[in-house]
Amino acid sequence: MSLLSIQNVSKSFTQDQQYLNVLKNIDIDIQQGEFISIVGSSGCGKSTLLRLIAGLDLDYDGEILLNQAPIKGPDLKRGLIFQEHRLLPWLSVTENIGLALAETPLSTREKSKLIQQHIDMVGLKGFEQAYPHQLSGGMAQRVAIARGLVNKPDILLLDEPFGALDAITRSTLQKELQHIWEREKITMILITHDIEEAVFLGDRVIVMSARPGQIHQIIDVNVKHPRHKEDQTLFHIRNQALANLHH
Ligand SMILES: Nc1ncnc2c1ncn2[C@@H]1O[C@H](COP(=O)(O)OP(=O)(O)O)[C@@H](O)[C@H]1O
Ligand SMILES: [Mg+2]
Repeated sequence: MSLLSIQNVSKSFTQDQQYLNVLKNIDIDIQQGEFISIVGSSGCGKSTLLRLIAGLDLDYDGEILLNQAPIKGPDLKRGLIFQEHRLLPWLSVTENIGLALAETPLSTREKSKLIQQHIDMVGLKGFEQAYPHQLSGGMAQRVAIARGLVNKPDILLLDEPFGALDAITRSTLQKELQHIWEREKITMILITHDIEEAVFLGDRVIVMSARPGQIHQIIDVNVKHPRHKEDQTLFHIRNQALANLHH
């Protein structure tokens, strides 16, 4: 039984009387605890697919089932992280993370404890009272990760979360995300246009092609975690994926 089952999903937009077929016949089954990477060129429909999984858009053909039940709308059980951190500038780190808990029935004390745990998890101890403008891009993205995880979601959806960061920060955060995933055993779906990132993190890499967005290839990455950047098998898989894409 899969946690998330995407069955024959197609999606189109009509804009200015133009019909645009964005996703076509997408089939993916995702198991509890899996790390799935989705790669594809800009405009191939990756964010559209993630929005459907998040329940932000219910207008599509096919079925998306979470634990056998259709997704009916957004839910705290699915955390979302975007390329931009989307923190509120007038709130501190603690308050920004706390916003994600606003709808929960937890006591103030329970909330504080959860917030502190997640600040520690992303390595921001000491920055509890800092404001977004006092943080680097990488630190702000760590806050966004903490905010995405603080509700203990079943699935974390990440839409190019490291796309705006410099190469060194990106590499550090990739390794940390891997550790968090291993420790928390959360199912993660990561969208990226970086094949190396997709292969480094993913148990499976779903390669999409564009116009309409379709699954071009699914690559199994049979390398156990924790993985290392220098791993030769990962290097080989990445090169094969690149060669395949350029065909
Ligand atoms: N709300 C919308 N209305 C019309 N077209 C849209 C809308 N959202 C996305 N699109 C179009 O769908 C295609 C896929 O977009 P998107 O999913 O954002 O791609 P990606 O995330 O892979 O870069 C693009 O051509 C985009 O212009
Ligand atoms: Mg996108």
